Amino acid sequence: MRNPFRPSFGASPYFLAGRGELLRDFQLSLMEGPGSPNRALLLSGVRGVGKTVLLNELEDTAAAQGWITLRSYPRSNMIEELVSTTIPQTISTLDPQKERTVSGGSIAGVGGIRTSDNPKFLESAPTLITRLRELAEHSTGILITLDELQAAQPEPLHELATAVQDLIRDEYEIAIACAGLPHGVEQLLQHEGTTFMRRATRIDLHAVADDDVSETLHTTITDGGKTIEPAGLARATALCKGYPYLIQVVGSLAWAQASLDEADTITDHHVQTIEADAIKRMMSQVHRPALTQVPDGEIAFLQAMANYGEDDVPTAEIARALGTSPNGISARRQRLINRDLIESAGFGAVRFTLPYLDEYVRSHSA
Ligand SMILES: Nc1ncnc2c1ncn2[C@@H]1O[C@H](COP(=O)(O)OP(=O)(O)OP(=O)(O)O)[C@@H](O)[C@H]1O
Ligand SMILES: [Mg+2]
Repeated sequence: MRNPFRPSFGASPYFLAGRGELLRDFQLSLMEGPGSPNRALLLSGVRGVGKTVLLNELEDTAAAQGWITLRSYPRSNMIEELVSTTIPQTISTLDPQKERTVSGGSIAGVGGIRTSDNPKFLESAPTLITRLRELAEHSTGILITLDELQAAQPEPLHELATAVQDLIRDEYEIAIACAGLPHGVEQLLQHEGTTFMRRATRIDLHAVADDDVSETLHTTITDGGKTIEPAGLARATALCKGYPYLIQVVGSLAWAQASLDEADTITDHHVQTIEADAIKRMMSQVHRPALTQVPDGEIAFLQAMANYGEDDVPTAEIARALGTSPNGISARRQRLINRDLIESAGFGAVRFTLPYLDEYVRSHSA
């Protein structure tokens, strides 16, 4: 019996918690035709909330309706890559005939290449728009995805958005879905030329509901060939705190513990046994990397928060703990928000964005 959980980043889970409605909206939008607002999606959320996995699901949803996906990457040559590699390659897989009629470049579409019919003729260099139009002629629809959006440069992003907009205006079947960390995405949208992305449908991914967590654990376990006691399921659900990465970690460890004990039923005791391991995994995979670049002053701020002992921490209390005025900590507060480690919790209060980060900070304070 193979462990059915997928506790690694970017790995699609066996059962996707709490995203059904979203995927259905997207499915509808593909059928609806150009003009549906859900054809431009902007997903944001903290590390491990399931952005990459959701992009993969969107790609699968599109594929099921005969659409093809172009993945773009937030590099400075993002557009160049699409124009000279990704799109020509896609066209040649859709239409192998095309490739054979092209000389002077094994993979290329119509624009900018000598064709064997007319070797001297050189069309003007292809642009993203001409390439996308060409691809559109070969496919039912095009979905462009872009992960780690916060790392994208504003200029290529603008160029990408302009091209998509151009095709939408001419009623081509095209959609775009981008995903990134909340603050980085926010910053990027401040740039001029990102109006199109600003108008995209925003999907802020947060913790999923406990019922969804419980259903996900239960279904994954039973379909995988084991069962779980109700008390164990309740404990495992509480342990996940709605955080998708933890669903996979907790499920995977509980399954492994039961297997070690040669049990087909995961008991409450099994879950209890792996509780500390699950949190430790979260710390080594999420918290530690998130805090490596954080200077001491900001760590002290986080420690004051962690020591307060409640989810929402008044900034006045943090200032008091650090022996300064609320004004004296406002810069640090902002920098921690920029790092997506904390978020505002209403006026004059903050909270951690990641589960168990308070425990991590407490256990690592000198
Ligand atoms: N809806 C979900 N239900 C169950 N498990 C999920 C869900 N979404 C994501 N996961 C699991 O959570 C983990 C993290 O998912 P993913 O890599 O998509 O996160 P991310 O938001 O892209 O993180 P990062 O910002 O670090 O790239 C993976 O193990 C994945 O299987
Ligand atoms: Mg990701």
